[in-house]
Amino acid sequence: MSTNTPPLETRPVLDLADVAISVQDGTIQAVRGVSLQVRRGSSVGLVGESGSGKTLTCRAALGILDRGCRVESGTISFGGTDVSGLDPRQWRAIHGRRVGAVFQDPGSYLNPSVPVGRQLTEAVRAATGLGRRAARVRALELLTLVGLRGAEHVYRQIPGELSGGMLQRVLIAIAIAGDPELLVADEATTALDVTVQAEIIELLRRLRDERGLGILFVSHDLGVIAELCDHVVVFYAGEVVETGPVEEILRRPRHPYTQAMLRVASLGDYRRRELEVIPGQPPSVGERIAGCRFAARCAYAADECRSEAIELVGIGDQHDVRCARIEEIDLVQSDAWQKESA
Ligand SMILES: Nc1ncnc2c1ncn2[C@@H]1O[C@H](COP(=O)(O)OP(=O)(O)OP(=O)(O)O)[C@@H](O)[C@H]1O
Ligand SMILES: [Mg+2]
Repeated sequence: MSTNTPPLETRPVLDLADVAISVQDGTIQAVRGVSLQVRRGSSVGLVGESGSGKTLTCRAALGILDRGCRVESGTISFGGTDVSGLDPRQWRAIHGRRVGAVFQDPGSYLNPSVPVGRQLTEAVRAATGLGRRAARVRALELLTLVGLRGAEHVYRQIPGELSGGMLQRVLIAIAIAGDPELLVADEATTALDVTVQAEIIELLRRLRDERGLGILFVSHDLGVIAELCDHVVVFYAGEVVETGPVEEILRRPRHPYTQAMLRVASLGDYRRRELEVIPGQPPSVGERIAGCRFAARCAYAADECRSEAIELVGIGDQHDVRCARIEEIDLVQSDAWQKESA
């Protein structure tokens, strides 16, 4: 190994470098130029309006893109190993062992007629190679670890007997069965009511802090992002427009889209009110645009924004913004988002 290889702890668990993803058999480029890193014990939140490319990015990182979708360029690495070219069989060796995933609708990932404990035991066996008896013991430990009281009882219940929050805990247990370094959670708390959502966030935070789990987390709820994430990546129309430490992004947003998004969020449900605050529509997926993809809706847009590609540039400690007019844009101090001190 070369002498400038960074020590393992500082090397990101997940590293996406300049990733572009196409859909519809390569005819449409839905995501481009996405770079992001997740380290052990840290959580990175992806935000941005519907259709901006968050899920495609997660699925690419998990090697589970739908048929017709593919990574066109860039690299995806786990712990320094490039996984962009792996086939499904090679991915299976990574799932559960190095990365686990949870999504919005936990019930749909479980067999409705098989007790959840048995399904978890199978996941443990697949991820660790443990024998049936040892895997069962491990499954019971995992049920307790994810905060399910009465593990022996829960073990024997079928999915229909558990609440949404309990099912999501079971799914998290399955996702971490092989003690992976990374958890991808795409809208994993979206369908849960507020109290349960807070409990799941607390669980994820505990797994991150106590087990050093790296978390890639997608949510429309900026309050949840503020609670859980250290770092935020803002997507707009298939591109990263701003990225930085959560406190910095939520309190000192610099990209006009991030500023508008935060303004909407402070009014309540930002999906419903977005159009009131940001007039116009995002470009359609894959639409070729010479300059900034947000220019048509941006109050600051000038000729320079519409002529050439805008690069993501560093403006401070890990804070990057894709905006040609960054110097002219007011620093909006947002006090709507105060991250609770730990
Ligand atoms: N399997 C697919 N086939 C064709 N187009 C797709 C596919 N998956 C995603 N897309 C398109 O790619 C774009 C990005 O989709 P993606 O699901 O990543 O958005 P998102 O940011 O996760 O949105 P949401 O917040 O609604 O979940 C969308 O325009 C979507 O229509
Ligand atoms: Mg999505």
